[in-house]
Amino acid sequence: MISRAAVSVLTPALRLLDAETAHRLALAALRHGLVRAAPYRDDTALQVRALGALFPNPIGLAAGFDKNAVAVLPLMRLGFGYIEAGTVTPRPQPGNPRPRLFRLPAAQAVINRLGFNNEGVEAFRARLPALAARQCPFGVNVGINKDGADPERDYPALVAALTPFADYITINVSSPNTPGLRDLQSEARLSAILSAVKAMVPVRPPILVKIAPDLSDAGLETVVETAVIHSAAGLIIGNTTIARPGDLSGANAKQAGGLSGAPLFARSTEMLARAHRLAAGRLTLIGCGGIRTGGDVLTKIRSGASLVQLYTAFAYSGPALIPRLKQELLQALQAEGFANVSEAWGTAA
Ligand SMILES: Cc1cc2nc3c(=O)[nH]c(=O)nc-3n(C[C@H](O)[C@H](O)[C@H](O)COP(=O)(O)O)c2cc1C
Repeated sequence: MISRAAVSVLTPALRLLDAETAHRLALAALRHGLVRAAPYRDDTALQVRALGALFPNPIGLAAGFDKNAVAVLPLMRLGFGYIEAGTVTPRPQPGNPRPRLFRLPAAQAVINRLGFNNEGVEAFRARLPALAARQCPFGVNVGINKDGADPERDYPALVAALTPFADYITINVSSPNTPGLRDLQSEARLSAILSAVKAMVPVRPPILVKIAPDLSDAGLETVVETAVIHSAAGLIIGNTTIARPGDLSGANAKQAGGLSGAPLFARSTEMLARAHRLAAGRLTLIGCGGIRTGGDVLTKIRSGASLVQLYTAFAYSGPALIPRLKQELLQALQAEGFANVSEAWGTAA
């Protein structure tokens, strides 16, 4: 068994490998029990009740890290408040040709154009009964295949297949790497998908819609109203961006794909705050994009997020990130005079 401290030491070594190989090795180490954290209980000030569940802390792992749900329990043991696995599609698919994952270390960012490489819903679902004894909530993120997709057929079928196993299900209509996917954020397409889900799966866990940080103001307003009308429980704001900040530099800055990490923080947080004002309590919002510190977590919560999630900072910092973020969050809450996470919710939106 390798301790968490040892893995933190190993994380820089993983950085010398190409990004996708490093990710594969990290996942394999988790899956085979090589990374373990000492069990501990989170401070009750971090607890959040949302989406009909109790989250020990608000910091989740975003979709894309464990696309095939192979390491959910070991990831939970690292101290996340919840894990979102996927994106899973109806059929297995290889994704785009490699290389397709690029680090931009100076910017603490990543560009990916993986294209929903995954083993398909059948293999994914076969792993889920083992999660019945999980220690925190489990979300599933669903998407459509690149070829032969029919969103109004495929999303409901995925929701039906995964309903018995998930605490919430995210409809992903915002990856930039599946042609046409982001068009499903329009009023007509999203309404059709959400109504089909409702009609075909009357009893289901809370449904979230994950949106792109590139949506216009009008686009965001449409998504908020469409989600409310069709009984979605909330939004994840948001996915990676196709925008490139002017000061993004480095060998990989011009790669095609979705940009994640630090450069996404300001835009995604601004959009979150706007969604909070528009939704006026009718939706549960999950803040995602560029979180690196406990202070960042608190900023998202104050901007209207009930929960947050992250990917890129975890890829750079490894498992030691999670206890650090929780410690920093507790300190930030205290410094700003909040007794707990819930008290801070929406106070800066
Ligand atoms: C390598 C990589 C793969 C990703 N794959 C998915 C995915 O399959 N589904 C999804 O909804 N989001 C995916 N994302 C987006 C993340 O879930 C998250 O929304 C985004 O990276 C912003 O958060 P961050 O700045 O903390 O990374 C991926 C991100 C990265 C970096």
